[in-house]
Amino acid sequence: MPEPADSAEAETFVVNGITAWQMLHRLAKVRPGRTVLVHGANGGVGSTLVQLARIAGARAVGTASAKHHDAVRALGALPVDHRTPDLEEQLRGHAPQGYDAVFDHVGGEGIVVSHRLLAAKGTLVSYGTASTRDIQGSSRTPVLKLLARLTLWNALPDGKGAHFYTIWAGRRRLDTFRARLHADLTQVLTLLADGRLTPQVAARVPLTEVGEAVRLAESGTVVGKVVLVP
Ligand SMILES: NC(=O)c1ccc[n+]([C@@H]2O[C@H](COP(=O)([O-])OP(=O)(O)OC[C@H]3O[C@@H](n4cnc5c(N)ncnc54)[C@H](OP(=O)(O)O)[C@@H]3O)[C@@H](O)[C@H]2O)c1
Repeated sequence: MPEPADSAEAETFVVNGITAWQMLHRLAKVRPGRTVLVHGANGGVGSTLVQLARIAGARAVGTASAKHHDAVRALGALPVDHRTPDLEEQLRGHAPQGYDAVFDHVGGEGIVVSHRLLAAKGTLVSYGTASTRDIQGSSRTPVLKLLARLTLWNALPDGKGAHFYTIWAGRRRLDTFRARLHADLTQVLTLLADGRLTPQVAARVPLTEVGEAVRLAESGTVVGKVVLVP
């Protein structure tokens, strides 16, 4: 960990930082001047995506609940309420030519809108199915449906890309996998140490109070990570 990063602050960027960096730079290959859409822009991965996109010189539009709009604006993205009934129209209004990259952890039927909002050679990066987390029945069905859609869209000869990202991809080739994690985490932690990335530590909770930490993390009342400290 580069000095002078604080270990709790660095922890907030381990999984979220690698995830955001790899989606932005390895999959979507976002360049300066491009416009990206980040769903859940106040969340752990989303807030990191917004910051990394801005550092890369891209413009960012982010969805979040209205109560988080000031936080999203402070990160450098234009906020849009993901509960608004005219979400697609509002998002299209902010990027009439379409988005060069859309990052979607919500899945469900909303993924169709995310795909429709892409620019001519845009890239959709899906990395979760938060909207179907609590549905009854098999939890695999919505995931399989999402993967089928992405595969179909990716096969279309329309110049657009559609991918599912998982941080575990490529782990069978362990040396390469580890080297990539090391390189990408180093990039992110260097930005943190340089003061260019702002960590969001919601609370530091002693390891002995892990139950309370989980309750707090799941309460929906905090912005940022709840970090367990030894
Ligand atoms: N594929 C991978 O390798 C990988 C890696 C890391 C994380 N993930 C996944 O990424 C997701 C986000 O993780 P995180 O740590 O960033 O979670 P988080 O900090 O809880 O943030 C998620 C944010 O998404 C927003 N949200 C929730 N439901 C939404 C909906 N229906 N539509 C739009 N926005 C919604 C919430 O914003 P508001 O509070 O403003 O509503 C919330 O702040 C999780 O599903 C996680 O499993 C995947």
